[in-house]
Amino acid sequence: MKKLLHEFLKKLVFKYTKILDPKYQYLVEPIQLAFLVNFLIEKKNLNGNILEVGVDKGFTTRFLCEHINSEKLDVQYFVVDTFNSFTQEDINYEVLNRGKSQYNTDFMNFRFNDYKTWSSKFKNFTFLKPYQSDCSVFDYNMIGPLKLVFLDVDLYLPTIRALHLIYEQMVPGGCIMVDNVSMNCDSYDGAHEAYHEFCKIKNLQVNLIGNNAGIIYKS
Ligand SMILES: C[S@@+](CC[C@H](N)C(=O)[O-])C[C@H]1O[C@@H](n2cnc3c(N)ncnc32)[C@H](O)[C@@H]1O
Repeated sequence: MKKLLHEFLKKLVFKYTKILDPKYQYLVEPIQLAFLVNFLIEKKNLNGNILEVGVDKGFTTRFLCEHINSEKLDVQYFVVDTFNSFTQEDINYEVLNRGKSQYNTDFMNFRFNDYKTWSSKFKNFTFLKPYQSDCSVFDYNMIGPLKLVFLDVDLYLPTIRALHLIYEQMVPGGCIMVDNVSMNCDSYDGAHEAYHEFCKIKNLQVNLIGNNAGIIYKS
């Protein structure tokens, strides 16, 4: 009887509200998620760790954790985030050097987050280690060598600085995916500029995936 009532209520909620609608929660495109899991399978025997820089609520993190678990991959997964949104230095750079308004509300995103709460939601994934840090000054040597990196911090300064530091820790055959690279991201077009600048400086091929990601391979 209880079960029947439950199903009936669900029927009403499904029919007349949006609560049970299927939602796409990810901030990245399906093709990016597909690329990441396929890369991990293809490079299963390549020695190196995984790193995600910029995690927000952790949707991509959770997705990759599930994949690591289901495929029983022997990897360590590190994440680095301020867990406190953008740094003032990075915002100032956008305002003073890239023509952005200091009142741009997109610079206020991600302020809800905190290291302790975020970490508690991932405590069952023992291969995952979160670090609270500005990615521009983090010591990546501590967590290298790296074979797969997802760099997703939106603005110019942290993206270009992290790219230079992370590239040094990549194993040959490894790759870095940079988000917000090819779409017209307005407030977050700094990642686009940083990605293309880095490819030019290092004489690397520009490699775009879907509408929004740039790939950098370490040879
Ligand atoms: C777009 S979100 C990341 C989305 C996530 N990768 C996903 O796929 O769901 C950007 C994140 O970058 C972080 N962030 C911004 N600037 C940073 C910096 N200088 N160092 C570390 N993290 C930073 C923010 O706190 C935020 O969590």
